[in-house]
Amino acid sequence: MAAFGSVFMPEMAISWFDGTQWSGTEVVSSSSLQLHPGAHVLHYSSTCFEGLKAFRHEDGNVKIFRMDRNVARLAQSSELLSLPKVDQALLSEMITTIVARFAAEVPARPGSMYIRPTHIGTEAAIGKAAAPTTTSCMYVLLSPVGDYFAGGDRALRLLLDDSGMRCAAHMGMVKSGGNYASALRPTLKAKAEVQADQVLFCPGGDVQETGAANFLLIDGDEIITKALDSSFLHGVTRDSILTLARDAGMKVSERELRIEELLERAAKPGCEAALSGTAAVLAPVGTLIHQGKEYPVGNGAVGATTLKLRKALNDLQWGVSEDKFGWLTQV
Ligand SMILES: Cc1ncc(COP(=O)(O)O)c(C=O)c1O
Repeated sequence: MAAFGSVFMPEMAISWFDGTQWSGTEVVSSSSLQLHPGAHVLHYSSTCFEGLKAFRHEDGNVKIFRMDRNVARLAQSSELLSLPKVDQALLSEMITTIVARFAAEVPARPGSMYIRPTHIGTEAAIGKAAAPTTTSCMYVLLSPVGDYFAGGDRALRLLLDDSGMRCAAHMGMVKSGGNYASALRPTLKAKAEVQADQVLFCPGGDVQETGAANFLLIDGDEIITKALDSSFLHGVTRDSILTLARDAGMKVSERELRIEELLERAAKPGCEAALSGTAAVLAPVGTLIHQGKEYPVGNGAVGATTLKLRKALNDLQWGVSEDKFGWLTQV
């Protein structure tokens, strides 16, 4: 099986902003993109992106999950990066157009079609280190993906990092390439030194998120996770899992969580932890590593509530359960 995100549909949807207006949706080859080497994005990182999925239902219909949320988040990231304003109706049309074109290629459960909208600054202007691009380009790539857990479910090991940061404090809620570049080195170091799968960034003891997922602590009937602020990415999966959990009668506490409380609660039998994100939905966390010591979460194995919540979301996405929150868009 090819690595997640390494196979692309041969065409993409694209639109260009010329400084005044957006061109209409065009469908072009996805094998290359022509840019001036002085393009703003290549020098000053005027770029943001999104990740969402389309699902094939048993009846053959293809549905996109919470597209409005991802479109709104790209618009917000663009605004915070001083990129041209995103036309949200246009971006929605670009997404539905390209998914409809490749509807027959959307894999059946447990696979799906990963959708990658991207917005980049295209103005050839290397003098604009401290000024925004006037022109830009949005494109939507498609990548069919298989079962994320094909190798079996394994409880992840997380290094709690209370000294470093994932990215600059004011950039946390922006889904921009630079944030991922910034988290890479600490993550590779944690992999090499303590065989961690991911770093859970906890600047000053405040439990935030990993390089590409939100963190949830599941203590019996209660889910505890950081309340939304500008320091981390507001995951669509986080919001979906919390909504389903509330709907199932669980208590959801969105508040500050500090390392000391996390380690204390994690030691209790039955406690669980998980990472939420579009790619994996909900991935179990079995071990926390802090200042050279390892702390199992509960019994250190894959948690039953984690699996139950993941199944509840997957069933809704694949149309096995009712779309009671109106989260699916028909293609
Ligand atoms: C830094 C970061 N946090 C959280 C998430 C989870 O967001 P979502 O659930 O919208 O995929 C992602 C993944 O997209 C991410 O890159």
